[in-house]
Amino acid sequence: MTSQAPEHSPARTIPELRRYKAGGDQLPLVMVTAYDAPTARFGVEAGVDIILVGDSVGTTLLGYDSTVPVTLDDILHHTKAVRRGAPGAHIVADLPFMTYQVSDEQAVANAGRLLKEGGADAVKLEGGLALASRVEAIARAGIPVVGHIGLTPQTAGLLGGFKVQGQEFVSARALIDDAIAIARAGAHMLVIEAVPSALAKMVTERVPIPVIGIGAGADCDGQVLVIHDLLGIEDRHAARFVKHYASLASDIRNAVTAFAGDVREGAYPQPEHTYKMKSTVLAKLRDSLEREPS
Ligand code: KIV
Repeated sequence: MTSQAPEHSPARTIPELRRYKAGGDQLPLVMVTAYDAPTARFGVEAGVDIILVGDSVGTTLLGYDSTVPVTLDDILHHTKAVRRGAPGAHIVADLPFMTYQVSDEQAVANAGRLLKEGGADAVKLEGGLALASRVEAIARAGIPVVGHIGLTPQTAGLLGGFKVQGQEFVSARALIDDAIAIARAGAHMLVIEAVPSALAKMVTERVPIPVIGIGAGADCDGQVLVIHDLLGIEDRHAARFVKHYASLASDIRNAVTAFAGDVREGAYPQPEHTYKMKSTVLAKLRDSLEREPS
């Protein structure tokens, strides 16, 4: 594990992101999720290119067991916080389940709110060919839109759960068609999740927009991880593609246990953690209390 200051200027604008297409001498794009101001600030300090306010907030922070219950208001709330923490960052905000499926009008209106009220630079939605017209409507409204194909957590039930996608000919071929359709519809970037790396490579080679992989191998134009996975904040079973760069779950548990122990043993607070009062004020206060009839 290394900790060093970033040596390159992160991509900030859509044209800069487009130039990151694989094949040149560009570094891969780096995207991480963030849901609050301090984490967004850490992302900027680490030099990441893109911050994703993912609907993974539902499982990482809000205690849901899927992303389905997450609302537009949830994403707005967290996007505003991320924007406050990272004023200059390129922020993508997720459109939650059922905030874009109903109609083009619904999708455009909700995507617009994420930019106007939330301060996002772009929105992301899940789905392939069937959602291409939705992507087109949002892009035509002047809202930068990112696609998300492969394992799409909002509809994981339909896919048979949180499983690798595109392992058979028909489903792999369909994923390539999905990627092409989403790119043609006007998406400026594509996330591809939990697919064989050889398939992700084919997708990356076939679309003119940057492809960001998560569980999709090294041949994408960039990589994304959920910040809680990266930091090891959860002890629960992690997907094969997750790499823990820290083990904060045990650090946090140990810290809270130590605090509880210190309080119970009288070891906290110590004089250095307390505020003093002038002896004259204290004496006057005691005196006034003593004069009060009990
Ligand atoms: O919601 C999220 O965090 C995501 C990533 C898994 C890409 O969509």
